[in-house]
Amino acid sequence: TIDTNLQLTVLEDIQQCIHVRDAFSHKGQFGHALLIAGSEEKMGAAIMATGAALRSGTGLVTAQVPASGATALNICYPEAMLLMRSNTIDNINHYTAIGIGPGLGVNTDSQQILFNVISHYKQPMVIDADALSILAENADWLRLLPKGSILTPHPKEFDRVFGKCVNDFERLHKALALTLQYPLTIVLKGHYTLVAQQGKGFFNTTGNAGLAKGGSGDVLTGIITALLAQKYEPCIAARLGVYLHGTAADLALETEAEESLVATQVIAYLGKAWNYVK
Ligand code: APR
Ligand code: MG
Repeated sequence: TIDTNLQLTVLEDIQQCIHVRDAFSHKGQFGHALLIAGSEEKMGAAIMATGAALRSGTGLVTAQVPASGATALNICYPEAMLLMRSNTIDNINHYTAIGIGPGLGVNTDSQQILFNVISHYKQPMVIDADALSILAENADWLRLLPKGSILTPHPKEFDRVFGKCVNDFERLHKALALTLQYPLTIVLKGHYTLVAQQGKGFFNTTGNAGLAKGGSGDVLTGIITALLAQKYEPCIAARLGVYLHGTAADLALETEAEESLVATQVIAYLGKAWNYVK
C-alpha cells in the first residue's frame, strides 16, 4: 500500500520556507538561542553545537557549559556568550529557543537541569543526546516537554526512550504514531532521516556516510536550535535543519572524502549550504 502520510523533502520545499532577511534587520529580530551542553569529558559536543548555531542565522547564541570548558569555547567561538553550568537558568523564557543534551552527561545534576528547564520553559526546544537518555529514565517527563519541542534521536536513542523496536519499519510507524499522541516533532536520524509531526513523515534527501562520525549529531542540534530561535515552525525548523546539515556534508565532499570529513568541517560548509538552498 502507498502511505500518503509520507513524503520526501526536496529542494523546492526548502526554498519556499526560508525566511527572507530584510536589509534593515537587526539581531533582535533573529532570536537568542541557548545551548545547554558539554561536560568535563565531552566539551567538543557543546563547542560544535555552538558553532553550528552561530552559522545558522540566529541573532545571539549563549552556551551554558561547565567552567572547565569556558576557555575552550571562548577561543573556538568568541561570538558566543557563556553561562556557567548551574541547575537553574535565570530569565529562561528570555531565550527564543533552547537546545539541550549534546555532551551533557547523564548524572543527577544533568537530570536536575533537564527537569528545571522543561518545567519552566514555555517555547519549543530541542532535546538531544544525553538529554534523551535522561528522558528515557524518566518517561513521565515526556508530558512536561514544552509544546512543539523537537526530539532528535538516532535509532538507539529512540528505542531507549520509546522501547525496543524490531526494525526500521516498526520504528518509523511508532515515531509517526507518537506525534499523534504528543505535540512533538520527532527527528529519527539515519541515512534518510525522518521528520515526523502530527502523524505525517518527511524523509530527508541530503547527506552522506561521511556524517557517520561522532559530532555530526551535535552539529544538527545547533542548527535546529538556531532555526527555532528565529521562529521557524518546529516541523519546518527540523526539515530545514536536517536538509542544510546534509547539504553541508555533501558540498564538503568537493574537498573531502567521506572518510576524512569531520563535523567541524560540516559547520564550515554551512555557508555554502545556505547559499545552495536560497
Ligand atoms: N548518511 C546520511 N547521514 C548520516 C549517515 C549516513 N550514512 N550516518 C549518520 N548520519 C547523520 C545522521 O542522520 C545524524 O544527523 O549524522 C548524524 C549523526 O548523529 P548522531 O547519531 O546523534 O551522532 P553523534 O551524536 O554526533 O555521535 C554519536 O551518539 O550513540 C551516541 O554515545 C554515542 O557519543 C556517541 C554519539
Ligand atoms: Mg547524537
